[in-house]
Amino acid sequence: MTENLDLFSAEPHDSKAPAAIKNGVPESVMAKAAALRTKLNQWAHEYYVQDAPTVPDGEYDRVYQQLEALEGAYPALVTPDSPTQRVIGAVLDGLTPVRHAVPMLSIQTETDNEATGAIAFDQRVRKELGLDESAAAIEYVAEPKFDGLAMNLRYENGVLVQATTRGDGEVGEDVTHNIRTIRQIPLTLSAAAAVPPVVEVRGEVHMMRADLEKLNERQLAVSGKTFANPRNAAAGSVRQLDSKIAAQRPLSFFAYGLGEVTPVDQGGPDFGSHYGMLQTLKSWGFPVAPQVCVATGASELVAFHERIGAERANLPYEIDGVVYKVNSLALQRQLGFKSREPRWAVAHKYPAQEMPTLMEAIDVQVGRTGKLTPVARLAPVQVGGVVVTNATLSNLFDIRKKGVRVGDTVIVRRAGDVIPEVVGKVPGERSAYVPNFRMPKTCPICGSEVVREKGEANHRCTGGLFCAAQRKEAILHFAHRRAMDIEGLGGKLVDQLVDGHVVRVLPDLYKLGLTSLAALDRMAEKSAQNVLAALEKSKSTTLQRFLFGLGIRNVGESTARDLAKYFGKLDAIMDASVEELLQVKDVGPVVADSIHTFFAQPHNREVVEQLRACGVHWEEGEPAEKAPQILAGLTVVLTGTLPTLGRDTAKDMLEAAGAKVSGSVSKKTSYVVAGAEAGSKLTKAEELGVPVLDEAGMLALLSGERPA
Ligand code: IVH
Repeated sequence: MTENLDLFSAEPHDSKAPAAIKNGVPESVMAKAAALRTKLNQWAHEYYVQDAPTVPDGEYDRVYQQLEALEGAYPALVTPDSPTQRVIGAVLDGLTPVRHAVPMLSIQTETDNEATGAIAFDQRVRKELGLDESAAAIEYVAEPKFDGLAMNLRYENGVLVQATTRGDGEVGEDVTHNIRTIRQIPLTLSAAAAVPPVVEVRGEVHMMRADLEKLNERQLAVSGKTFANPRNAAAGSVRQLDSKIAAQRPLSFFAYGLGEVTPVDQGGPDFGSHYGMLQTLKSWGFPVAPQVCVATGASELVAFHERIGAERANLPYEIDGVVYKVNSLALQRQLGFKSREPRWAVAHKYPAQEMPTLMEAIDVQVGRTGKLTPVARLAPVQVGGVVVTNATLSNLFDIRKKGVRVGDTVIVRRAGDVIPEVVGKVPGERSAYVPNFRMPKTCPICGSEVVREKGEANHRCTGGLFCAAQRKEAILHFAHRRAMDIEGLGGKLVDQLVDGHVVRVLPDLYKLGLTSLAALDRMAEKSAQNVLAALEKSKSTTLQRFLFGLGIRNVGESTARDLAKYFGKLDAIMDASVEELLQVKDVGPVVADSIHTFFAQPHNREVVEQLRACGVHWEEGEPAEKAPQILAGLTVVLTGTLPTLGRDTAKDMLEAAGAKVSGSVSKKTSYVVAGAEAGSKLTKAEELGVPVLDEAGMLALLSGERPA
């Protein structure tokens, strides 16, 4: 960027000629400000509308600040369409009613979910136009039907002068102060195509799904109140009196039509088609939805309806249907209006994705990993085209957050193929007191204790192997190659064994016989024999594999190995206290607690005993020799590179001897061990008078010496 950074020596001009001044502003400064504005508008359009920025944010900010500085020095420079004027913080007493120059009409709606909606519309249009079967197919424009708030944007000589809501279609409300804060809406029309003296652009103010989610997170933290959908969020933001609030709301815009426009004979634009008009709106700087396209004949409308229907759940913004419009403006004029609706357009809705219904109960389901999920039982309701009777409520915190209780009328949402969920409560008082939902203390499937780990939102059943809900998962994990390594015991087979009640608990695996196995689907005698052989082979294993195979939460392979090494014997692990478990390398409070809770369940101990009784065995070792804790109570800090020992090895050695290894030096530090290129920690140690050792000194410390 080779730009003149000296703001006030804007244009090079002959220093002897007197500077031209207008309204107290040198013309060169005016030109400079205009150039900065054009640049900023261009960049903002690339960023907010085209989603394709061409300069880094910092560059935008730098130029913005230049413009701000110029306008600060010459207030007369400020124009209402300057990028600096988006957030001027206007606060109104109330919204002013405004009569629309051209009424904002509504659209006839086809609600049926089938192709017939599009076909019926095409037939009506053809009939109105007096076309017979042999006439060519009609060209339409197919658009998404955005779920937001309709807006009329009035531009005079290319400058935004007024933004109004639809209101009753005749009279809306002036919300210009808020609309100016929407970065996607140009304050000045870029003159790529000639701009008429008057043009009203119509479209939908809405909110992207991701933006709404983020906004709701903030809302929840600040006021505890969230917006149920983008339409409410858009309406709630646009109708604020204080534009600072709207400025903080991530609003978006899609243009889809026109209001008043200077007539052609007075210099207005001569659009031939709706699609062509949309392209002009785009060139003026408005966002037009990328899905908008020309569709010829009913069949292409049907295809559009289907395609957008399939994409609907994954679109970054909400839609509630599609809109078909006759493309030719001449044909539109010919078709005209029927009462308050144009005959040339129709909205074809999709089934609602959100519906209210009564929540009759909350049950708890146990998943295959032991997670407890509260499930809302609902009075049957049509949502997204199917009857919904159950919806998930994720976890206890989700229920608290949404504030729903049994007996409430709740909003149920089902989008695409996702599991229906309860979104929230329909506002209104409860007629009677209903206690808040609580998670059960014991598993509804197996009766084992239910726990929730610190910092976790989910409750879990501790039944593990014993819990029917977790059985399949537990068996597959037990058979895993890195656990008991039972070849041939895969998902399909486990499904059959569990569903057919052949295997209830792990030990049942070792009671399988050839006849019962070979009788299963897709099991020949040969494969049954192979599974039996694999089972037999698995009986001779290692303590590490066996422990890992039990599927104790938070006990992976390496923890299983450390436990086996440390304790040597299974009984020692089963009987270990949390404190003892914490002695094992890398076992922290969460893992120690998982292990302790697992073996505290009588069912789990029973499973282990039965497996042993079936002949599962491993070699037991002696507990690891515990190094004498000669450094117990000392805190050591390592810094720099030691000549022979790696940092990790040094840390392990110190910790094995009972020292605490810390990352920062304080008065409480016993020793600092410093190697080459030791930095601030060494300096700090010297300042505080903490003894400093080299590697040799550390080894001496480990051998029992206490250097001063
Ligand atoms: S055209 C005369 N196109 O649907 C036709 N409207 O009743 C004027 N809407 O609240 C509207 N997406 O805000 C049109 N692509 C689209 C639309 C759309 C959403 C809304 C509009 C109004 C209602 C029309």
